[in-house]
Amino acid sequence: MRAVVAEPHAEAADIAGLLARSDALRQVSDSPELDCQLLLAEVLGCSRASLLAHPARRVEPARQQQYADLLARRRQGEPIAYLLGRKGFLDFELAVDRRVLIPRPETELLVEKTLECLAGREAEPLHLLDLGTGSGAIAIALARHSGSWQVAASDCSEASLELARHNAANLGAGQIRFVQSSWLAAFGSRQFALIVSNPPYIAADDPHLQQDGLPFEPRQALVAEQAGLAGIRDIISQSRRCLQKGGWLLLEHGFDQAAAVAALLMESGYTEIRGWQDLAGLDRVTAARMSTPE
Ligand SMILES: C[S@@+](CC[C@H](N)C(=O)[O-])C[C@H]1O[C@@H](n2cnc3c(N)ncnc32)[C@H](O)[C@@H]1O
Repeated sequence: MRAVVAEPHAEAADIAGLLARSDALRQVSDSPELDCQLLLAEVLGCSRASLLAHPARRVEPARQQQYADLLARRRQGEPIAYLLGRKGFLDFELAVDRRVLIPRPETELLVEKTLECLAGREAEPLHLLDLGTGSGAIAIALARHSGSWQVAASDCSEASLELARHNAANLGAGQIRFVQSSWLAAFGSRQFALIVSNPPYIAADDPHLQQDGLPFEPRQALVAEQAGLAGIRDIISQSRRCLQKGGWLLLEHGFDQAAAVAALLMESGYTEIRGWQDLAGLDRVTAARMSTPE
């Protein structure tokens, strides 16, 4: 006699019942109801508005199972962006997966300040470089802002460069030159008008690494030696070789690293050092200019 296999979650086969499972996410999410809506909308290929408009719509068992699998992953703390495979950044959407860091709002501030440094120069064929490009977020934003700019982007991870190339091609930024490199190693004495980076800056013993989905993100995208400053220190030092006179260096950093970053910039001969805060009032972006190239 064949065993009878129960249909997964056959007892809650309508949309309202499936959305009512948000309690399971309360331990890991600040927005469990929204998470459920996003995941179910993804599985059903419809909008959240459509879910809410049709609570009695029946959901077939195969789709219920897909939804249950995503909920189980979310319950383990996996970020929503990895489960959906995408993340909004400024006015576009990037494909993301576990090869790359999920772009953050602080990095939108970094792009905004980068564009301010370049304001009025949209028609110039400026050479710009994004170090540690990850999903390509920063480089793509710059390339989309002006077709005159020659944007290069590098990362030490070939896996993340694959995804960045895919994003650039999909988002009309196919002119970006992607290069595998440890910071500026592959760039010789090429000269840039501006170098921008959101490098890894979390100290290896920082307890935040165990929270908020960070265990799912690539460690080399998050952690830096020397209390989180190793990457920043290398970039500040190596950029001297590759910045034109008057060229800009912009860095994202941890909320408690602004003074250390400014000190490193000063020691390396940068001028016009300035910083900006995020919406929470935390120091997150520092810029400086290279008055005399190395
Ligand atoms: C914080 S993530 C930033 C990703 C992306 N730019 C963003 O803002 O969303 C840092 C990136 O730097 C890369 N990275 C780490 N060490 C590097 C190195 N030595 N040289 C080049 N890239 C490096 C990581 O692979 C990761 O993609």
